[in-house]
Amino acid sequence: MRRSRAGLKEAVLRFFSPGSLLGPPRTRDLLRLYREYGLDPTTPHPRLFDSESLSHLRQDQLRALFKAMRVNEEHRVLSLGEGNGAVSRLLAKAVGCRITGVDLNPDLVSTARNLARVHGVGRLVEYLVQDVHALRLGRRRFDRLYANETMCHWRDKELALRKALPHLEPGAVVGIHDWLRGDRGGLDEGLRRLPGLGRLYPRGIWFQWSLSELAGLLERLGLEVLSAEDLTGAVDEGLRKSAAFIEALSRMADGRAIAAARSFREVLPAHFAWLRYGRIIARLPSRRPASGPRQHTAVQAPRGRAAGSRPTGRRSPRRRPGPPG
Ligand SMILES: C[S@@+](CC[C@H](N)C(=O)[O-])C[C@H]1O[C@@H](n2cnc3c(N)ncnc32)[C@H](O)[C@@H]1O
Repeated sequence: MRRSRAGLKEAVLRFFSPGSLLGPPRTRDLLRLYREYGLDPTTPHPRLFDSESLSHLRQDQLRALFKAMRVNEEHRVLSLGEGNGAVSRLLAKAVGCRITGVDLNPDLVSTARNLARVHGVGRLVEYLVQDVHALRLGRRRFDRLYANETMCHWRDKELALRKALPHLEPGAVVGIHDWLRGDRGGLDEGLRRLPGLGRLYPRGIWFQWSLSELAGLLERLGLEVLSAEDLTGAVDEGLRKSAAFIEALSRMADGRAIAAARSFREVLPAHFAWLRYGRIIARLPSRRPASGPRQHTAVQAPRGRAAGSRPTGRRSPRRRPGPPG
């Protein structure tokens, strides 16, 4: 399903809007949750992140990403597709660095700003409403960049990264968590095959690439890929645990939590076949190369089942449907 640029934006805004079926909770619902469960929002308690974030990965995996990126307190960090700020709040509390989060969705940015104050990290974070394809970061410079589960919605990943990379310092580290194409194709195809999931997820907003395609893009843009890992097994296990946890509490859980547990169960059959998950860590050269971007470093083979990846050529790869299952 091919959407116009405006149609894509509209569908992404709707899908991730606060309070929507699978979107993040509203600020007022979170404040109630903190009170009911005695959660102190100024701490990095895992329940906070796990109930606020749009991410399918749990807090420990985000911490692993930050560790692999070697983020420290002195760093200025750029986050693309930051959503409602759950990731940057965690990073600000865990490390104490400054973060600029960019997101298309004004409602998510407003939630992020409000929650930053509630979580006591308001002075460390700033949020901008922008489309990554038309980034305007002014004179801002960054030592680190992360993109957590957002690139799969970018129609032109190369364009977006070309806008962001000039704002990075030499030697800056980039960390990506993303939904990858599965062994049988992308989610659009999976949604046709899995009617339960098809009723929950919109079509035409998934531009999943394989791990090696993403790594190849970073290399063409002049970065050295330090690692590229397939995390599908970890995501699958995390989601099963979350669904079981909510179901065990089902007498106490509200309608939204029960709907979330149901959606977790619906997405599980898509794992591996239509949806894989990856982490890439890459680094800019310490000095800008005199001419042109670097070429090719080896990419670590994904763990678990074969990754459905294809080699990349010099041209920007486009999303291609997999063979019919
Ligand atoms: C699955 S959410 C992840 C949010 C956040 N990174 C997290 O892990 O909680 C994907 C986010 O990407 C944002 N997004 C998608 N396309 C975008 C674009 N072209 N420019 C900026 N943000 C975009 C969406 O608005 C949404 O907030």
